Amino acid sequence: MNIAIHQATITEFAADAVIVNLFEGVTRPGQATGAVDKALGGRISDLIALGDCTGKLGETVLLHTHAALPAPRVIVAGLGPAAEFDLAKARIAGAHAIRAAANAGARTVGTIVHGAGVGGLDAAEAAAALVEASLLEMYQMPRQASVAREKKEIAQLTVVELHPGQLPALQRGVAKGRILAESVNQARDLAAYPANVATPTMIAQTAQQMAAETGLRCQILEQAEMEALGMGILLAVAKGSEQPPKFLILEHHADRAATLPSIVLVGKGVTFDTGGYSLKTASPGTMWQMKDDMTGAAVVMATLRAAALLALPLHVVGLAPLTENLINGRAQKPGDVFRGMSGKTMEVISTDAEGRMVLADALAYAARFQPDAVIDVATLTGSIGIALGPKAAGLFTEDAGLSQRLLAAAAVTGERVWPMPMYADYAEDIKSEFADVKNSTSPDVSAGVSTSAKFLQHFTEGYPWAHLDIASVAWAKKARPLYPAGATAFGVRLLVQLLADWS
Ligand code: BES
Ligand code: MN
Ligand code: ZN
Repeated sequence: MNIAIHQATITEFAADAVIVNLFEGVTRPGQATGAVDKALGGRISDLIALGDCTGKLGETVLLHTHAALPAPRVIVAGLGPAAEFDLAKARIAGAHAIRAAANAGARTVGTIVHGAGVGGLDAAEAAAALVEASLLEMYQMPRQASVAREKKEIAQLTVVELHPGQLPALQRGVAKGRILAESVNQARDLAAYPANVATPTMIAQTAQQMAAETGLRCQILEQAEMEALGMGILLAVAKGSEQPPKFLILEHHADRAATLPSIVLVGKGVTFDTGGYSLKTASPGTMWQMKDDMTGAAVVMATLRAAALLALPLHVVGLAPLTENLINGRAQKPGDVFRGMSGKTMEVISTDAEGRMVLADALAYAARFQPDAVIDVATLTGSIGIALGPKAAGLFTEDAGLSQRLLAAAAVTGERVWPMPMYADYAEDIKSEFADVKNSTSPDVSAGVSTSAKFLQHFTEGYPWAHLDIASVAWAKKARPLYPAGATAFGVRLLVQLLADWS
């Protein structure tokens, strides 16, 4: 989707469709919508009077202009009540509107910025929300089929603004929205690729390329270096795979680590999770989904990309342990005991609880940055989906400040996180007879989410820490506004917001 800004009144703009908007309860539309209404002989007002155009959030009403305007179609996007309007609602409205334009067959679209006028939003932020929503909503996962699907695509989106004085702010907003959405969509690509394409090696190469394009520092640790660091818990997972594991380190403002706050983000990068010898069941035919078990790593990479391109004034480190969880004659077995980088040992109860294992050594490595905070993002447990469904990610932390920052970023971005308990007694359940800790309470599956977080906590010495379990939200079974069905890369917008709000 090509995006441009154009100074004009929307009534004179030529495109396959133009988008205007309406707050709920407004009977006489003003400004851009009023101008279109007037050009159409009051037909929008008529529809409002009939109750066929209400301005409810997410509503889209399509009108054909019969040459009364240069554009053959007008879409009136509902914004909901003016008093409740904010950036999150602007994104929802923008997503519905662009989807309606695409469904109507439009390939070129002109749109006003929702909320920059009467809505009272900051013009740059409103433009960013519009562009972000449009790119996220129209995202399509990569396919490798020889016959292309018939696509409903928007080739050109033009932000149409009447007042020349607004253009610089809109320019800034469009740039920001594009950085955010393109970062998210790159992460979605990685999560959607089949695991034979998105191997640890391929993801590491992608990160190197990203670093070259954005000025991030990038370092890839190979197996021998991980061995030298004593990352025996991470390497235990990699033992069963022919794919060499990689440990990814991306850094934004590495040269200013001494003076800027340091935030470390850690992402689970299991490029395919068969469960190992604690094999996942193949029968319901859902194991293919485990190709997205590296969503945390992709989210961390995308967040670093955005942090660099937005020039956020922080030292941000992204860590991602990358490996497959497969089976061969050398693979780890239940009962095996491994020692990690922190010196602590752990007993394998389930080889399918591999996410917490790869994170254990990454969290130990994080300590060397003396970080002000560490946040890990992981498709860690099936149980978080049972607890929360696809409506929120699980938030685990005992740091009140970090919890509050994450909840605030969630409220702004609409990427919801819900606090889950971290009671000390959950740690009792993962005490091991043979090692410092065991990786599962199996066969007792109760409180599987909290025991997984308590396991991670063992390896988080010396810094404030929060864990986000995104297994509930990483793959959307049903489409929602901004989240087409499939890979969501949930967490990028949340984490970028948290970083932007940090100081
Ligand atoms: N990658 C899975 C978690 C998962 C399950 C994500 C379903 C998305 C959908 C993780 O590695 C896993 O297998 N977790 C186990 C933990 C158990 C063995 C303690 C689980 O949740 O069943
Ligand atoms: Mn697993
Ligand atoms: Zn997994």
